Amino acid sequence: MSDPQIDWQELRRAAREMTGHAYAPYSHYPVGAAGLVDDGRIVVGCNVENAAYGVDLCAECGLISSLVAGGGGRLVAFCCVDASGTTIMPCGRCRQLLWEHGGAALTVDTPLGLRPMSDVLPQAFDAGDLDAVAGTDPAAGPEDAGRTPR
Ligand code: THU
Repeated sequence: MSDPQIDWQELRRAAREMTGHAYAPYSHYPVGAAGLVDDGRIVVGCNVENAAYGVDLCAECGLISSLVAGGGGRLVAFCCVDASGTTIMPCGRCRQLLWEHGGAALTVDTPLGLRPMSDVLPQAFDAGDLDAVAGTDPAAGPEDAGRTPR
């Protein structure tokens, strides 16, 4: 399932190192994330909290921003860890972010082992759902929405 070339130890190390950069004065829960891009780059991120709690940035947000700002590409492997280096699951919102830039085949390090993104976010909503109604008038109701049954 996962490419044997992927150096998971290196990715986990990079993620753990990022927890040292996290800005988490409110939750005291630093998170570090690291991803391997299809061109061999490693992109990283840490959580950045805010006094207005609701606008916290998860570690994955920084990682995705760095991916795109650094030239884009597809994520092929991903992991995130807490301050002790323990693998944690990406939150629901961040699963959606990861899906956009890695898709079903992205391999995710989880507490239960390596899993494809399609297991981490089953039946994901993505650009294909938008394409399914392109050229139709969704406001006209379900009959005209142009969806093909799955
Ligand atoms: N957090 C992340 O950075 N990524 C996740 O996937 C889970 C949660 C952060 C957000 C917040 O700063 C802290 O963990 C506690 O929820």
